[in-house]
Amino acid sequence: MAQTTTGRFDLLGLDGMSADELGSLLDEAEGFVGAVERGESSERLAGKIVANLFFEDSTRTRCSFTVAAVRLGAATLDLTGAGSSLSKGESMLDTALNVEAMGVDAMVVRSGRSGTPHLVARSVGCPVINAGDGRHEHPTQGLLDILTLRRRWGDVAGRTVVIVGDIANSRVARSNVHGLTTLGADVLLVGPPALVPHSFTQIAAGPGRVTVSHDLDDALPRADAVMMLRIQLERHDDGGSGAIPPDYRRQYGLTVDRAAGLEADVPVMHPGPMNRGVEIDSEVADDPARSVIMQQVTHGVAVRMAVLNRAIAG
Ligand code: CP
Repeated sequence: MAQTTTGRFDLLGLDGMSADELGSLLDEAEGFVGAVERGESSERLAGKIVANLFFEDSTRTRCSFTVAAVRLGAATLDLTGAGSSLSKGESMLDTALNVEAMGVDAMVVRSGRSGTPHLVARSVGCPVINAGDGRHEHPTQGLLDILTLRRRWGDVAGRTVVIVGDIANSRVARSNVHGLTTLGADVLLVGPPALVPHSFTQIAAGPGRVTVSHDLDDALPRADAVMMLRIQLERHDDGGSGAIPPDYRRQYGLTVDRAAGLEADVPVMHPGPMNRGVEIDSEVADDPARSVIMQQVTHGVAVRMAVLNRAIAG
C-alpha cells in the first residue's frame, strides 16, 4: 500500500501497488542514482526531520535511510530498541506517538513484528515507511532489488528471477514477489520444502507467475537473475536455537561450481546480511563480473531518497 485515504503517502508494502505506482517510484529513484554515485547532496528537504525507529537490528536499511535523508538535506532522529525506554516496558506505539509529538516529518519503522508499521501509520499524522516488519514485507528492499534489475535489463517483464533460501521467513522474498510479478516478471522460489511454502504461488500479483522448486540445480538454468537469501534462524519457531542443516550448502548454496554453470550475464544478488560459506560462497559474492550485491546497496540509497522525497515533499 502506498497511498492512504487521506492522500498521505505511506509505503507499507508492495502488495497492492499498481505497475504505474511502482514504475513512478522506480523512475524517481533512477533520477537519484547519479547523485548517490557522485556523492552529491541537495536541500530538497532542508528543515525536515526523518525519524528512524528501528525496533529490530539493521545495518543496511538504517544507514541507507540516514544517508538518503542527509543527501536530501533533512536531519535524522535515530532511535533503536537498545538505549530507549522500550527497555522500561514502553510500547512501540507509545514510542512512536511520543516521537510524533516532538514534531517529525516522516517515520521509518522497522520491527520484528509483522504489522507494526501499519499500526503506527493508523495512529500518527505523518507519513510512515515500512523498513521491514517481521516476515511480512520489506518494500524498499524490494524496490531496490527491482531497480537493480531494471537498470540492467531496461524492463523486468518476461524475465525469471530465482530466489533461493528461507522463503517462508523472508519479507524480502514477499516484497519481491509482489513487485516483480506486478511488473510482469516470473519468480521461481527454491529451497527446502519446510522453508518454501506453496502458498507463495497464490500471492503473485500478475501478470507474472510464481512457481516453487526444491531442486536448485534444476532451477538455475531457468534464471535470468539469482537472489540468495540467508536462513533466518531468529524467525524460526525455536527462537533461533536451531542450526543450519549440515548439508544446506551442498543442496542450496550458490557455490563456486554452481555459479560457474550460470550464463555469463546472470547477476547474483543478496539483500544482506550474508552468511558466507553457507548460502553463498565468498568467491561468488565478491565476483565483480557476477555479483551486483554492492550495486543493490547503492541503489538502496536512491530508492530511499525517492520514497522520503515522495512522502515529505509530495
Ligand atoms: N537488507 C537488509 O534489510 O539489511 P539490514 O537488516 O542490515 O537492514
